[in-house]
Amino acid sequence: MTIHVLALFPEILGPGLAAGVIGRARARGALAIHLHRLRDYATDKHQQVDDAPYGGGAGMVMKPEPLVAAIEHVSAGDRPRRILLSPRGALFTHARARALAVEPSILLVCGRYEGVDERVLAVVDEELSIGDYVLSGGEPAALVVIDAVARFVPGVLGNVASPEDDSHASGLLEYPQYTRPEEFRGARVPGVLLSGDHGAIARWRRREALRTTLARRPDLLAAAALDDDDRAFLRSLGWAG
Ligand SMILES: C[S@@+](CC[C@H](N)C(=O)[O-])C[C@H]1O[C@@H](n2cnc3c(N)ncnc32)[C@H](O)[C@@H]1O
Repeated sequence: MTIHVLALFPEILGPGLAAGVIGRARARGALAIHLHRLRDYATDKHQQVDDAPYGGGAGMVMKPEPLVAAIEHVSAGDRPRRILLSPRGALFTHARARALAVEPSILLVCGRYEGVDERVLAVVDEELSIGDYVLSGGEPAALVVIDAVARFVPGVLGNVASPEDDSHASGLLEYPQYTRPEEFRGARVPGVLLSGDHGAIARWRRREALRTTLARRPDLLAAAALDDDDRAFLRSLGWAG
């Protein structure tokens, strides 16, 4: 998969994309990431990319000409799916990350200041928000989207881990995880995990995932795939669904 990022400050993304899972995937060639500097597409001698808002008000708005020129230039090759990062966008979710991972190429457009001129929307395919809060710029949001999408790209996680085991994959939060030592500050690892009984471990994990989801995100249960045993267990914990 190829990921393009268009930003005023692409240097914010560099270190985050050089290390860990993403860095290794890039080194193996499982992922190609290209960072594009918006100011390179400014046409005036001051390389201005923002201007005052029509109608007045605080802050500056990103001008349409450099943004559209950059989006069209970057799209000229592999025609990526063009995504504008915006707090007004649809909420970015596990399901959206999985769906975007099948795209051969995406372009993430990062705003700054008070956002982008509305006419830029004519050249983007969708707007995505990473949450109900406002960042100073789209660069951190692009890092979040890249990391979550890349986990679904074949070859990125390797064979040892699967994004389908993580929280949200089944519509539930993940069960608790433990590693050595067996006892830490008086807290012992649940005995079933030491039993070697894989059926019992799978049942315990399922129930703990249900218990955790009910305690922390009961809203998720409405859309989760639950069988009769799951429902009975949840009702025993006080679930009214
Ligand atoms: C300060 S914000 C602009 C906020 C805008 N005035 C508004 O109220 O919708 C600057 C840029 O940060 C990015 N951004 C801020 N919050 C975001 C979020 N929750 N998700 C995705 N991008 C975000 C967008 O690219 C946005 O153009």
